[in-house]
Amino acid sequence: MRKQENDVERILLTEEQIQKRIKELALELEAEYAEKDAIFVCILNGAAPFYIDLIKELDIFMELNFMRVSSYNSGTQSTGNVIIKYDIETDVFGKHVVIIDDIVDSGHTLQSLRKLFAMRGAASVKACCLLDKPSRREVDVHADYVGFEVPNYFVIGYGLDYEGHYRNIKYIGTLKPEIYA
Ligand code: IMP
Ligand code: MG
Repeated sequence: MRKQENDVERILLTEEQIQKRIKELALELEAEYAEKDAIFVCILNGAAPFYIDLIKELDIFMELNFMRVSSYNSGTQSTGNVIIKYDIETDVFGKHVVIIDDIVDSGHTLQSLRKLFAMRGAASVKACCLLDKPSRREVDVHADYVGFEVPNYFVIGYGLDYEGHYRNIKYIGTLKPEIYA
């Protein structure tokens, strides 16, 4: 049987580090959104594990919603084109939107999402991303809440994939070089 974890070279963030940071982020988000009835939008598929753990820590009046966008065809390079594959099923006009994503890399995805929700008339648009790779930024955009800054490595686990795999690993790590061969 092939084990995903055998392909991991190095653990960058442990399950404990991630879960501790999520509790801290939840407190910050509660402070900002306690009275705002915000819509927390999960950007599928990558943000799913982060989103599920985060919302369980949020003890506020809020809505959940899901969206799927794609900028990566496969491999490890961003194309710069962001396509909506599955749109949220609610009108965000006049509402406070919180984008929940796995990572800000080139920044194209987040920039497109911010523009989209602003265009649809959201009262505010903020983003909470588990990871941030500032060294890879191609557009001037940032997340309002960031779990961890990571160096310029391609990372997998806890939602992040390489060619669709490794999303259900509980920590974040790098893959052995031979996996990309
Ligand atoms: P951006 O549009 O380049 O900022 O990329 C955003 C998306 O690229 C993320 O939501 C991820 O799905 C994917 N991505 C970027 N860096 C990584 C990585 O290191 N590992 C896995 N996926 C990544
Ligand atoms: Mg992805």
